[in-house]
Amino acid sequence: MNNKKNLEELAKNFEAIHKKCFGKAGTSFSSSFILSLINNQNIIEVHDEQKGFCLARLTGREAEIITMAITPDFQRNGIGNLLLNKIIQSLQKSKCEKILLEVASNNIAGIKLYSKLGFKRFGIRKNYYQISRDKKIDALVMNKILIN
Ligand SMILES: CC(C)(COP(=O)(O)OP(=O)(O)OC[C@H]1O[C@@H](n2cnc3c(N)ncnc32)[C@H](O)[C@@H]1OP(=O)(O)O)[C@@H](O)C(=O)NCCC(=O)NCCS
Repeated sequence: MNNKKNLEELAKNFEAIHKKCFGKAGTSFSSSFILSLINNQNIIEVHDEQKGFCLARLTGREAEIITMAITPDFQRNGIGNLLLNKIIQSLQKSKCEKILLEVASNNIAGIKLYSKLGFKRFGIRKNYYQISRDKKIDALVMNKILIN
């Protein structure tokens, strides 16, 4: 299998995982969008077989966690912790000084995971996520300062 085919398959796997996590909220990513991300050289991706993945974008000295998702059957097994740690370590080896992310204000699991790995809340984006036709939810903005 060539690299192009590998990436297409990876994007389809990620799409399936993302749909299981965000499909209900209508905010899951399509495989073509994921493929465009993982084809971009600024994107760092980590995954654990077909159990979960995490994507980050590094721009200069700043990085952003774009998304992460663990298949519901494999949640609470330490995989999210492992993947996020891998991304942080990889960014730490680059010139990155700060990692940012947004997380829905009602996403307790996400907020706890990010807090556990040293992210601090520093802002809020009001009505950031459209979760149904007439309901929006705030996003917490969190960051982690890296000491190189
Ligand atoms: C958030 C998510 C990535 C966590 O991944 P995970 O593999 O289940 O998490 P882990 O097993 O590595 O747990 C690490 C820590 O996260 C927190 N956590 C994870 N799931 C939790 C839950 N359901 N409730 C409360 N805290 C939770 C805990 O602090 C946990 O540490 P502990 O086990 O010592 O208590 C996963 O629940 C998920 O994919 N959710 C749907 C998509 C999503 O919300 N993505 C993140 C926002 S973009």
